[in-house]
Amino acid sequence: MAKRPTIVHTIPALRREIARYRKSRETVALVPTMGALHRGHLALVRAGQQRADRVVVSIFVNPTQFAPTEDFGSYPRTMKKDIDALADAKADLVWAPSPSVMYPTDFATRVAPEGAALAGLEDKFRPHFFGGVATVVAKLFTQVTPDFAMFGQKDYQQLRVVTQMAKDLDLPLKVVGLATVREKDGLALSSRNVYLSELERRHAPVLSRTLKACAARIKAGEPIAMVLEEGRMHIRQAEFSVDYLEARHALTLAPVATLKDGPIRLLVAAKIGKTRLIDNLGV
Ligand code: PAF
Repeated sequence: MAKRPTIVHTIPALRREIARYRKSRETVALVPTMGALHRGHLALVRAGQQRADRVVVSIFVNPTQFAPTEDFGSYPRTMKKDIDALADAKADLVWAPSPSVMYPTDFATRVAPEGAALAGLEDKFRPHFFGGVATVVAKLFTQVTPDFAMFGQKDYQQLRVVTQMAKDLDLPLKVVGLATVREKDGLALSSRNVYLSELERRHAPVLSRTLKACAARIKAGEPIAMVLEEGRMHIRQAEFSVDYLEARHALTLAPVATLKDGPIRLLVAAKIGKTRLIDNLGV
């Protein structure tokens, strides 16, 4: 049987483990997660192992990044399965604080990201989201003190926000963004894919297919606005309602009008039934 990772639930216990690593001059990679782990998370663990001596995985469903109308209560919580997967992946340490450890009753400080966090993409539809993410990720970074922090590119705006936050707050770590892991038919892996009905699941690859087709047309020089409008129509035909399909500068997330304003990243968010999916692709 694979060796189980050490699991810690309190800050003193976490600090003891990290101090042990540091005493042996070992480097640390952090994989921040909300659990419900899939192959995408495990790819981040493997990438962390390639860069650092120790991999710490945090599992915390962060209440401050959910609006009251969102799925905080029903978000999949699969701790036992997650620990089994992390044992197989040979992760070293699981940091699993309770909400009261992360946010004691007298908690009174929040990180308020600007720049990419106000790009008018996810922030337009989930105004709570990046403040909650930046606050919890800043806490995770100061709790774990990693050398590397591993994030998937699937949450592309989040990756930009967290990268900028680490830079702005002079946090001594490198944020590493890794390619999105996909199903065979192109659907980006997400813990929320379990919400899809069988029929919705069959429609879902339209997002990655549309991104790919739009990227190819934009690269070939077709007008961006026209390509995106046709892309939105295509997604709507597969029973999705489209929150956005946009072309943005890959680093600043500012709008781009032509290919030469790039490098360009295409970003999409759309809802089918009760499930909202996001995806993105470089041009
Ligand atoms: O991407 C996620 O799973 C979450 O937003 C994160 C980064 C773990 C913060 O709660």
